[in-house]
Amino acid sequence: MPLKISVRSVLPAREPGDLVVVGVPTLGSRKKQRSPLDGFDRALGGALGRLIKKEEFKGEKDQQLSIATLGRVKSDRLIVIGLGDLAKLGAGDIRTFAAKAGRAANGDKAKRLVIGLPEGLEGRLKEIAEGVELGAYRFTKYLTGDRKPKTELSQVSICVLGRVPADAKERTDLGQTVAAGVNLARDLSNDPPNVLWPDVLADAAKQAGKEAGLKVQVFDYKEIQKRGMKLLQAVGQGSEKKPCMAHLSWTPAGAKRRIVFVGKGITFDSGGLSIKPAAGMGEMKHDMSGAANVVGLMWTIGKLRPDVEVHGIFAAAENMPDGNAYRPGDVWPSLDGKSVEIINTDAEGRLILADALAYARALEPDLLVDNATLTGACVVALGNGCSGWYASNEGTAEEFAAAVKASGEQMWRLPLLEDLKDQLKSDCADLKHTGDRWGGSISAALFLREFIGNVGNWVHCDIAGPAMGDRIRGWDPKGGTGHGVLTFLELVEASKKGTAPARPAGTRNGTKPSRAEGPRVAKAAAPDADRGDATGGRKKSAARKK
Ligand code: BES
Ligand code: MN
Ligand code: ZN
Repeated sequence: MPLKISVRSVLPAREPGDLVVVGVPTLGSRKKQRSPLDGFDRALGGALGRLIKKEEFKGEKDQQLSIATLGRVKSDRLIVIGLGDLAKLGAGDIRTFAAKAGRAANGDKAKRLVIGLPEGLEGRLKEIAEGVELGAYRFTKYLTGDRKPKTELSQVSICVLGRVPADAKERTDLGQTVAAGVNLARDLSNDPPNVLWPDVLADAAKQAGKEAGLKVQVFDYKEIQKRGMKLLQAVGQGSEKKPCMAHLSWTPAGAKRRIVFVGKGITFDSGGLSIKPAAGMGEMKHDMSGAANVVGLMWTIGKLRPDVEVHGIFAAAENMPDGNAYRPGDVWPSLDGKSVEIINTDAEGRLILADALAYARALEPDLLVDNATLTGACVVALGNGCSGWYASNEGTAEEFAAAVKASGEQMWRLPLLEDLKDQLKSDCADLKHTGDRWGGSISAALFLREFIGNVGNWVHCDIAGPAMGDRIRGWDPKGGTGHGVLTFLELVEASKKGTAPARPAGTRNGTKPSRAEGPRVAKAAAPDADRGDATGGRKKSAARKK
């Protein structure tokens, strides 16, 4: 249930609630200005001032104080959070502040939360709303008895010092819609692997699509075989729960641009015959986080109804060892047509993505973005809180970097080093699917690039680290995080405003773009699913090359 959020022009000390959380900038320099802390110290008989002094609280970023109010103000507890220099606060900092408030409300078993904002943050209500919803997120579906939370945060009053902005409701609504998409991705990512199989994930996509007014197509195992998605079949056939693929689409008339998102949906990654060690294997329930992101993202897209055409596609499979499992040494064809020699069955993600990308490219996207919990190497490189991304050309990289900056998510660009391509040469097939241990995230990206065909503008995000939080970080909880959704939404947002080029200059080969620059002429109808088959896609690419 979404929170009931209201924005008021009232001092937080006067607003009724169970917990009040006040954000303050660095103290001292602006003493005469009104502060959201006004009224607290007097009501508390000077106790707040004494605590501030004793704790040497200066309002610096991430400093925090907590004080019981013993019935002297309307909330039972006051938390003061330092924000530092307000001019330096990005979207992520504000979201993190509000997430702390949401989390503290859960910790306090508060039903009503009051948030006090300093002057200057009235315009940041979207991030505040996002932060509270994301911070208050809990995965409680499987808790029973005493473990089941008895209280739930339901009401949030955001107190501003000046006037309530005219678009306050619009902004908090937007923030809540965005956060609900991220939280949906988290829910799916957290669901255990004995519950969430490939077709359960596809059902979730259907459900989300229905709620948000999207077209949803699901291809079952039969259809996958019929269409020639052999790599997806190879990865999934060792499991009792057979693979599937889903395609959600938002195709408004007159759209300026077509963006296609693709996600990896391995509902459990045991490693297959190249089985993983026991330690940490359970975390591999999150190996469908890329697909979960696609579902959450598309749900929000359907709710926001942008004038941009957006598609969300995922391939789903369970990677298991079995008599029918694919093996190291196998050679498999792909939807693209290229043959692939299997080296290590634990490198399954790039295989299912290869077929999903070959399907996606037939939609002729202006921008193709895939996201996947793809390699441990990326986690070694960037740690648990940051994903790695690759872009096929500089224009696309600029566009993606701007979206990352706007979202505040931690994502770092990595290079598509051409010399690592040699690692993918096979003696008996067109390609080997893994290279050396060194540069493992890069060789995985290079393998994926083999399947994007003629698509000029492509981004690959390796979300292996931050998709599954090992601890609370910023606005993210432990467990499934939905990392990536916020940046992907920013990409769509920028396309809507027309700040993103319809066709950034340059292609991955550094040659001229294959099609004319400028806004595309919208296609009237939703793209036909049949265009996604290998022949259709290849014929089209071939035709376009002429
Ligand atoms: N799902 C894993 C990658 C992963 C590792 C995600 C750690 C999250 C945390 C992926 O399928 C995998 O097993 N990759 C292998 C590839 C290797 C065999 C070339 C890896 O990274 O070890
Ligand atoms: Mn694996
Ligand atoms: Zn995997």
